[in-house]
Amino acid sequence: SQSTVHLIDHLDRDYLRQALERDVRAGLASRPKQLPPKWFYDAAGSELFTRITRLPEYYPTRRELAILRARAGEMAAACGADTLVELGSGTSEKTVLLLDALTAAGTLRAYTPVDVDAHTLAEAARRLTARLPGLTVRAVCADFEHHLGLLPRTGRRMVAFLGGTIGNLDPATREVFLKELRATLRPGDTFLLGADLVKETGRLVAAYDDAAGVTAAFNRNVLHVINRELDADFEPDAFEHVALYDERHDWIEMRLRATRDMTVRIGALDLSVPFAAGEETRTEISAKFRLEGLRDELAAAGFTTLRQYTDPAGDFSLTLAGV
Ligand code: AVJ
Repeated sequence: SQSTVHLIDHLDRDYLRQALERDVRAGLASRPKQLPPKWFYDAAGSELFTRITRLPEYYPTRRELAILRARAGEMAAACGADTLVELGSGTSEKTVLLLDALTAAGTLRAYTPVDVDAHTLAEAARRLTARLPGLTVRAVCADFEHHLGLLPRTGRRMVAFLGGTIGNLDPATREVFLKELRATLRPGDTFLLGADLVKETGRLVAAYDDAAGVTAAFNRNVLHVINRELDADFEPDAFEHVALYDERHDWIEMRLRATRDMTVRIGALDLSVPFAAGEETRTEISAKFRLEGLRDELAAAGFTTLRQYTDPAGDFSLTLAGV
């Protein structure tokens, strides 16, 4: 049987450009300065993230894969979905396990990957249809924080949000996101949420400050993106990578610390931004969770937790929730 691929694009160049301009203008005006993590992921940043997932210190990807290898069959049987919607799908590497399990269960008809990068989406669609002939791929280029309402609503859906990306949202944003997602679902639909778990601080920090310096390069990549897209003159090497664990909030913070006084010109914004020596700009939070806290947050948004899975070491979690 023939595969079908549709690409629905909600993010034209103008939209992305305006969103970046807004985020950079607002983020560099706030105190402390901050830049949202979604702008890490241009082609080079996505490549660096793939390298991160293979680092010895970065356990989440391997742990999540191990859970899916052991449990995808059970999840597929429990959800009975004919449509898998994946938020922040990236290379869809782990998704294959869910797609295979839903195929084996005999229910799968369509896959909807959702990502901000159209190139990544097209590439993932090509690989998956080659592997699963007959699969309909409706790829949606969108920002899951803003476009949940635009996702296809047909079929019995499982919405998967893997990798721990939920941790990039601060608690208030997370609450809104979960409620908005819940509002798009109907009885019979399910939500599969991947979340990293609280653990010993040393291991958490090492996962975000690897010995080979790949995470440092990933962190500085946001400056390269701003240089290219907004005609700026950041010197990425003049910024130090900082990763720390905030025990009060249970999150990792990545920052870029200016190593000297400097003024950065951002041409497209007609803006000059001073940085003081030692000043830190926050580039990412990556929240770590407890199983009970995840259940509580899901319940507050109107979900019912059906099952929670962890790897044998208890490092990472997948929560399957119904509505
Ligand atoms: C892709 C958001 C899950 O927070 O662990 C990896 C991104 N940042 N190393 C994470 C990331 C630094 C990653 N997520």
